[in-house]
Amino acid sequence: MPKIAAPWTPNSWRACPIRQVPAYPDTSKLEAMEAKIGRYPPLVFAGEARRLKAHLALAAEGKAFVLQGGDCAESFSEFTANSFRDTFRVLLQMAVVLTFGASLPVVKMGRMAGQFAKPRSSDNETQGDVTLPSYRGDIVNGPEFTPEARIPDPQRMEFGYFQSASTLNLLRAFASGGYADLHEVHRWNLEFVERSPLAERYRDLAARIDETLNFMAACGMTSATTRDMRETDFYISHEALLLPYEQALTRVDSTSGEWYGCSAHFLWIGDRTRQLEGAHVEFLRGVKNPLGMKVGPTQEPDDLLRLLDVLNPENEAGRITLISRMGAEKVGDRLAPLVRAVQREGRKVVWLSDPMHGNTVSTVNKLKTRNFDAILAEVRGFFDVHQAEGSWAGGVHVEMTGQDVTECTGGAHKLTEANLTERYETFCDPRLNAEQSLELAFLVARELKDRRVPVAPLAVAAQ
Ligand code: PEP
Ligand code: CO
Repeated sequence: MPKIAAPWTPNSWRACPIRQVPAYPDTSKLEAMEAKIGRYPPLVFAGEARRLKAHLALAAEGKAFVLQGGDCAESFSEFTANSFRDTFRVLLQMAVVLTFGASLPVVKMGRMAGQFAKPRSSDNETQGDVTLPSYRGDIVNGPEFTPEARIPDPQRMEFGYFQSASTLNLLRAFASGGYADLHEVHRWNLEFVERSPLAERYRDLAARIDETLNFMAACGMTSATTRDMRETDFYISHEALLLPYEQALTRVDSTSGEWYGCSAHFLWIGDRTRQLEGAHVEFLRGVKNPLGMKVGPTQEPDDLLRLLDVLNPENEAGRITLISRMGAEKVGDRLAPLVRAVQREGRKVVWLSDPMHGNTVSTVNKLKTRNFDAILAEVRGFFDVHQAEGSWAGGVHVEMTGQDVTECTGGAHKLTEANLTERYETFCDPRLNAEQSLELAFLVARELKDRRVPVAPLAVAAQ
């Protein structure tokens, strides 16, 4: 295949067919911005990306579980410490519950500190009799429905860079400065359980975690004595969609001499840009970061294997995470052949379930929403497929926020379509709110616990 033989360079993607490209009106301004960001410091260090890859390698072997979550699209206008602190907190809360459920370490990745660029199903958006270019994320253009806002502006890349740097700085401080203390996080979970209309359902699991922490404290393992109880590893990730920006932050690691995408630890390829010969696959094959790839219902097994050949020729564990986003109804049919092909060929991958993107529906008022039951059904379907194929269901990938938004229907508080307009704040897709996210974590934890029971009849989760 010529692609494999051709040498990779940080700009070799420019010779490949590309989708989802913003139409910048002034390419000289774009080039000047690329050169400017190209001189800025990297946001992450290659050694961190390698550490994440090693954690993900454990998940590929069934020895860890992965939680990836955050906004569909971060925005420049929601750039406050509260917004990402709350999302970070809920991710930690979910991780504690999942760690207990899986009895395994949980690798934590935020869709944060750089999740700005969005692929769109249409290049244009029409409202009434006005048609304008689609909003492609704050790093490209503005969400307001005006001709000026929708013009792609390279200056936005620089805002995106600095916002990512600032977000990452505080996330690092939270992760190591005491905010991530396991006892605190557990206390927040107890508060969640007591607030939940379904408290009865979750109390048991929360009480067992409580007991475990007390036991550990009795053995001398407290936040004061044990680093892992007061600090955590937290990684950032985003879709590597805006290649001029990604290329500008691609650097040679001085310790290994290899190229890394230094805009985030983990970069993924979206479902719309995973063409074998396309620019996004070409760009990402050359950087050594751990990579994700979304696989939707149109993904065929043979094509998937060819993509793995290109993206992971050495079959290195931890390099590739496949993020399945089939939809609750299709997951059984569409995922099984992919998992089977990967198993048959001995490919080392981490499998995550993204139960969001295949379950988006439009309300009568033209709001995008997702139903909690469909989300949960897709996760269960994902577990079923992996169980049947003897493969490890390695984790979940969710669009969520720590805020009390009303964007997805259902959940313990039984949000209806009529509630959606109360606090519908997303810049792109509907997110689980804090309560719905935790509820999902408790339910997934229970699946994990139940499915670990080796006796077949007990492995069926009693709801
Ligand atoms: C996303 O993760 O926000 C996204 C656009 O997903 P997908 O590529 O799976 O549609
Ligand atoms: Co999305």
